[in-house]
This record gives sequence, structure tokens and C-alpha cells, in this order.
Amino acid sequence: MTKNINWFISWFNSKYYHILYKHRDDKEADIFMRNLISFLKLKKEEVILDLACGKGRHAIFLNSLGFNVVGADLSTNSIQKAKKKENERLRFIEHDMRNPFPEKYNTVLNLFTSFGFFEEDSEDITVLKNIKNSLEKDGIAVIDFMNALYVVKYLVPNETLIIDGITFNITKYVENGFIIKKIVFEAEGDDHTYFEKVKILDLPKIKGYLQTVGFKIKHTFGNYQLDNFDEHTSKRLILVLE
Ligand SMILES: C[S@@+](CC[C@H](N)C(=O)[O-])C[C@H]1O[C@@H](n2cnc3c(N)ncnc32)[C@H](O)[C@@H]1O
Repeated sequence: MTKNINWFISWFNSKYYHILYKHRDDKEADIFMRNLISFLKLKKEEVILDLACGKGRHAIFLNSLGFNVVGADLSTNSIQKAKKKENERLRFIEHDMRNPFPEKYNTVLNLFTSFGFFEEDSEDITVLKNIKNSLEKDGIAVIDFMNALYVVKYLVPNETLIIDGITFNITKYVENGFIIKKIVFEAEGDDHTYFEKVKILDLPKIKGYLQTVGFKIKHTFGNYQLDNFDEHTSKRLILVLE
């Protein structure tokens, strides 16, 4: 298993992360955002934080609809790329979500499993506290996490994916309460090994976190069409918090 507790810095900052996950594209982001803003009735004058925004696929789409958006991420490369799309109502900042945010927002979005990366529960709770403290009065937060129980149940232990001419050999397993994904490939004349390590946070465990922070769950969805969450069949666990 990876001993590198900071795996999320190197992996998400590498161009290979974006190649392996290229199917998680703008189209997926656009559909989810359209459904979410229409459900939440978000207003264009409000400020949205896309927290752990990556290259900003959700933030850029929301801005294209007229929203005032800030995207924040730890990955220098992703933020540099995203910054090329900046305008007076779209900004990107490099920021570690374990640190408090410099501003307040009406809505904070944390999308596509951008949570549960850290060893200590206290670090997850710190992230939630930072989100809560960054909200304006009556603000809401949306956490789009994997349905951990579903992912564990249907875990594919070994898989080979060929994308853009790169053969990714992927091994997945559960260890010490985390889902580990080991990604091995050869590219540009070098052998590469990266890890993803996401904590198995089911709804009861997340509810415990939320209680500590003082967040209440307003809605629970199970996919990007915003169907109800079912722990046995839903792929996602999407929480709207206030
Ligand atoms: C699975 S990606 C999702 C990216 C984006 N939300 C999307 O849907 O394309 C997780 C993101 O979390 C970011 N991240 C990881 N640790 C972080 C931290 N401590 N603070 C801020 N961002 C972080 C990574 O750099 C990466 O961009």
C-alpha cells in the first residue's frame, strides 16, 4: 500500500490523472450542474465556490450560464490551466481545503469525490468546518461523494484500460477503511506508479462528521439526475447541506 499520505498532491497534479479520467468530462459536468441549479433555484447574483475544482469543468460551465464562480484546488497545474478561462465573474485560486477560505460564498460545491483523501478523520472534519465557516447566512453546501458501500460491493480488483495509447494497469482493494486504487503504466519512456486512496465514508459515518460541524442534511441524491439515494443501487452519494 502507498505510504505516501500526500498521494493526492502528485496524482491529481499529473497529466496522467486527466488522461485516465477523461470520460469524466464537460458533458457530465454540464448535465449535473443544470439539474442542480434548477433544483436549488440558484440565483445569478450569488457567489459559488467550486471547491477542489480540478481544471474547472463545473465552474466554467456555471460561469457560462452567468454565475459568479470561484474555483479552488490544491493542484498547481490544474489551476494554471483553469486560469486561462478566467473573467470578471470567474476566478481560480490555489488553495488547500484544510485551510480556512479567504471569502464567504452563498454556495460551496465539492464535486466528484473530492473528499475523504486524508488519513485522519479530524482532517475531514476540518474541511467541513472550513466549508461551513465560508458560507454566507442561509448558504448551502453540496458534497458529491461516491456511494462507498456500492463501490466496495462492486469493486473490480484488476482492470487494464488503454487510453490515448497508454496502458493503465489498475488494481483496487480495501485496506484499513480506505479504497485503494493502484495505477501502474509506462509513458514517455518511464514506469509510473500512482495511488488513489479514498476513505470508505458511508452515510452514517458522514452524518457523524456533519453533526460535529453543525451541518444539517437537506437533500440526499444518488446520481447526477438527482434521483433519491439508495444505499444498495446508487453510484453517488450527493448531499445538500445547510
Ligand atoms: C477527483 S478530482 C475532482 C476534480 C473536479 N472536482 C472534477 O470534477 O473534475 C479531486 C480534486 O481534489 C483536489 N484536491 C485534493 N486534495 C485537495 C486539497 N487538500 N485541497 C484542495 N483540493 C484538493 C485535487 O487536486 C483534484 O483536482
